[in-house]
Amino acid sequence: MTLKIFTNLLIIIFFVSSLKNIQSTSSCGDIDFDSILKDYLKNATEIDIFLDFDGTLAEITPHPNNTVTTTSMKNTLLELSKHPEISTTIISGRALSDVEQKIQIDNFTYSGNHGFEILFTNGSKYIHQIPESLSANFSKLLQELEQKVEKHNAWIENKIYSLTFHYHETPEHLKRMLMEQAILIVTKYGYRANQAHDAIEIKPPIQWNKGLAAEYILSHKYDDLWRNRKILSVGDDRTDEDIMKVIKGFGLSFRVTNHNDLVTNADYKIPTVECVQELLDAINRHYLKKQSKCSCKN
Ligand SMILES: *[C@@H]1O[C@H](CO)[C@@H](O)[C@H](O)[C@H]1NC(C)=O
Ligand SMILES: *[C@@H]1O[C@H](CO)[C@@H](O)[C@H](O)[C@H]1NC(C)=O
Ligand SMILES: *[C@@H]1O[C@H](CO)[C@@H](O)[C@H](O)[C@H]1NC(C)=O
Ligand SMILES: *[C@@H]1O[C@H](CO)[C@@H](O)[C@H](O)[C@H]1NC(C)=O
Ligand SMILES: *[C@@H]1O[C@H](CO)[C@@H](O)[C@H](O)[C@H]1NC(C)=O
Repeated sequence: MTLKIFTNLLIIIFFVSSLKNIQSTSSCGDIDFDSILKDYLKNATEIDIFLDFDGTLAEITPHPNNTVTTTSMKNTLLELSKHPEISTTIISGRALSDVEQKIQIDNFTYSGNHGFEILFTNGSKYIHQIPESLSANFSKLLQELEQKVEKHNAWIENKIYSLTFHYHETPEHLKRMLMEQAILIVTKYGYRANQAHDAIEIKPPIQWNKGLAAEYILSHKYDDLWRNRKILSVGDDRTDEDIMKVIKGFGLSFRVTNHNDLVTNADYKIPTVECVQELLDAINRHYLKKQSKCSCKN
C-alpha cells in the first residue's frame, strides 16, 4: 500500500517536471527577437522576408488540405503587409495557386513548387522551364504512380510541375515498401525523389530550388543591388536551407526545428510555429516604432 502511494508520488513528480520541460522548450530557445532585429536592421529601412508555409506559418497536418494558419498568425501576416518597407514572399513546395489560396494577401509575392512558379505583386508570373523530354514523362510517371502505389491510404498530390507522394496515413509496416516502390518508379522516368515528412517530393532533375528562386525574385526587383539589402528567411524544411545558404553572411535566417543537433545554414534555430509568429510580431513592432519616431519629427 505504501509502495503504491510512493510510486504514485513519483509519477506525479515526474509529470510535474515534464510539464516544466514543455514550458521551457516553448520559450523560443531564449532568443530575444527584438534585440536581434534592432541589431540587424540598425542601418536599414527596408527588408525582404522569405517565409515557408507548412511547418513555418502553419502546423503540419496529416492531409495538406487541412493545414491553415491560426487567426492570430493571419493577423500578424496582415500587419506585415501594411508596412511599405517590408516585402514578403511566401515560398512553398505546394502548387502556386494552392499556397496563394492559403494566405490570400494581395501584396505578397508567392512562389510555388519549390520556386518553379513565381507570382510577383504586379501580377506577372514566371515559370521555370522544364525540357520537353522531361515534361513528356510527367504524365506517364503520374499514371504509373497512381496505378502502383496509390493504395493503403497513400495518395499523390499533382502540383502540375511536381508531385508529392503522401503516405502519412499508411499503416506503419507498409510505409517502407510503398516508399521504395515509388522511388523506383520516379527514377525510372528520370525524375528526382526527395524524402520529406512521411512523403516523397518528386521533382524534375533540374538545377533549380528555393534559393535560386529567391535570387531570381530579388534580382528582378532590385537588380544587382539586392546583395546590399536586408533579407530574412524562415523555414522548417531541408529545401529552405537553399535560401539560407544564398543569404548566409549578410542575411538573417531561422530554421524551425526542435532537434538541437540538426546541422543548418540558419543563424538561429527556433522550435515552433508560435516562435515564428513571435519573430514576425517583433518585426512588426520594429517597424511600428520606426513609424512613430517619424511622426514625432513631423
Ligand atoms: C550606416 O550608415 C551610415 C550612413 O549612411 C554609413 O556611413 C555606415 O557605413 C553604415 N554602417 C553600416 C554598418 O552599414
Ligand atoms: C483536397 O483539395 C483538392 C483541391 O481543392 C481536392 O481536389 C481534393 O479532393 C481534396 N482532398 C480531400 C481529401 O479533401
Ligand atoms: C497591402 O495590403 C494590405 C491589405 O491586404 C493593405 O492594408 C496595405 O496597405 C498594403 N500595403 C501596401 C504597401 O500596398
Ligand atoms: C523518360 O522515361 C523513359 C522511360 O523510363 C526513360 O528511358 C527516359 O530516360 C526518360 N527521359 C528523361 C529525359 O529522363
Ligand atoms: C513585375 O515585377 C517584377 C519584379 O519587380 C519585374 O521584374 C517585372 O518586369 C514586372 N512586370 C511587369 C509587367 O511590370
